[in-house]
Amino acid sequence: MSRNRLTTTAGAPVADNQNSQTAGPQGPVLLQDYQLLEKLAHQNRERIPERVVHANGWGARGTFTVTGDISRYTRADLFQGLGRQTEVIARFSNVAGEQGAADAERDVRGFAVKFYTDEGNWDLVGNNTPVFFVRDPYKFPDFIRSQKRHPRTNRRSNTAQWDFWSLSPESLHQVTILMSDRGLPQTPMNMNGYGSHTFSLWNDQGERFWVKFHFKTRQGHAFFTDEEAKAVIGEDRESYQKALFGAIDAGQFPKWTLYIQVMSQAEAERADFDPFDLTKVWPHGDYPLIEVGELELNRNVDNYFTEIEQLAFSPSNIVPGIGHSPDKMLQARVFAYADAHRYRLGTHYEALPVNAPKAPVAHYHKDGAMNFFGHKTGNPDAFYEPNSFGGPVEDPSVKEPPLPLAGDGDRHDHRLGNDDVSQPRALFELFDTAERERLCANIANAMDGVPDEIVARQLALFDRVHADYGDGVRQALAARGRSARKAAE
Ligand code: HEM
Repeated sequence: MSRNRLTTTAGAPVADNQNSQTAGPQGPVLLQDYQLLEKLAHQNRERIPERVVHANGWGARGTFTVTGDISRYTRADLFQGLGRQTEVIARFSNVAGEQGAADAERDVRGFAVKFYTDEGNWDLVGNNTPVFFVRDPYKFPDFIRSQKRHPRTNRRSNTAQWDFWSLSPESLHQVTILMSDRGLPQTPMNMNGYGSHTFSLWNDQGERFWVKFHFKTRQGHAFFTDEEAKAVIGEDRESYQKALFGAIDAGQFPKWTLYIQVMSQAEAERADFDPFDLTKVWPHGDYPLIEVGELELNRNVDNYFTEIEQLAFSPSNIVPGIGHSPDKMLQARVFAYADAHRYRLGTHYEALPVNAPKAPVAHYHKDGAMNFFGHKTGNPDAFYEPNSFGGPVEDPSVKEPPLPLAGDGDRHDHRLGNDDVSQPRALFELFDTAERERLCANIANAMDGVPDEIVARQLALFDRVHADYGDGVRQALAARGRSARKAAE
């Protein structure tokens, strides 16, 4: 087999890749051995900043196929026509662990999908949970701080986590999910994905509908107990990577069904909960699931770094027919991700092959580090807008309908009068006895080392959700040799 010649980065053939150029057999090395310097310099630059959250992840490429007609809700090109296929790439992740953290840790999982549509990239950057810990973006950096390492001990801190949660009653719903069986899936294939926020769809008539997106796993749910996870991690810290990569390599392609829930503006105004509050679900009885399509992951990437590490998702990436909503958290995310990518990957991160749209790209952004694409206007004389040189122009036909906004520009207390307990109560009531026992045991486990007053504050919150919830955790704490009495006792 003839083999390619090894070359320098400048393309010149390399004569010797084994021996440095030296003054004699024992050295020293000559400064003119540029290829040695080049090799060492490249190694020094191999790392880029990891994602500030969701650093540890696993991904693959695949296909989205339309199986249900939602054209009355949206003009989005990718949803037009049963059987219509769109190329996708997905990345799943843990939230708190750094790169190299063990995969099978109890944590929320990211579930992000980039759809390379004919009208640009649409990124649905969700989690495996339909709600979140906080409902105001002011709280997000603090929440993440409580999950990451303590600045002095450099260890993750149960105390910080429960301190934050016990002072943030809006977290009860998500904490209950995280500590339940759903909080520790066996593999990324055994979990659902949720857009979580309320988004919108809009159609050719300019009508807007509020929607939630749900990916339901076709592999079935499977979870680890904390004990099982310990054993898995002891054997293999990369168990998710192994499972996902291995399944696709073996031709067992994981699949999810995509559904939407739809709410009209009139229904949103009538709802007895805030439909734009990220800590709430929309009851399925009132807002039934509507099938949209099938997500199949069927191709492993060839290079983890270029295709998964350099993969850049952003909730700001929407396409005509899909829109945002007033959800404050979503609004903050529309800013945060592209900003993170410019820092993590560089100004022109969207031109990297994995992020580059399959749709034609025509814009007037220019220059900056690593502009390797030249001009994107089709004509070097068209480098500003408006111009007389045939450069790209706006297309009013894709104008989004106006948002129904009214308000006072004030800061509204998001906790005042908000019902943080009914939805977690409904969830708790769905759990059978064994599920409740596991939930309470996982919580007791996670409270190791947490000061009594913080535990007591959190137990009072669980009591408000359901008497059996607070008592269940008390019993689980007692089983671990810790007494935690009811405040009134
Ligand atoms: C105000 C709230 C939030 C902020 C400011 C925020 C910010 C960020 C940032 C800066 C990253 C790293 C991006 C990168 O470097 O590539 C990230 C990653 C991620 N976030 Fe958020 N986030 C928020 C809430 C959420 C919520 C509610 C969800 C899910 C519903 C979510 C899901 C994800 C996922 C899945 C990733 C990893 C994406 C990937 O695989 O590359 N985040 N977030």
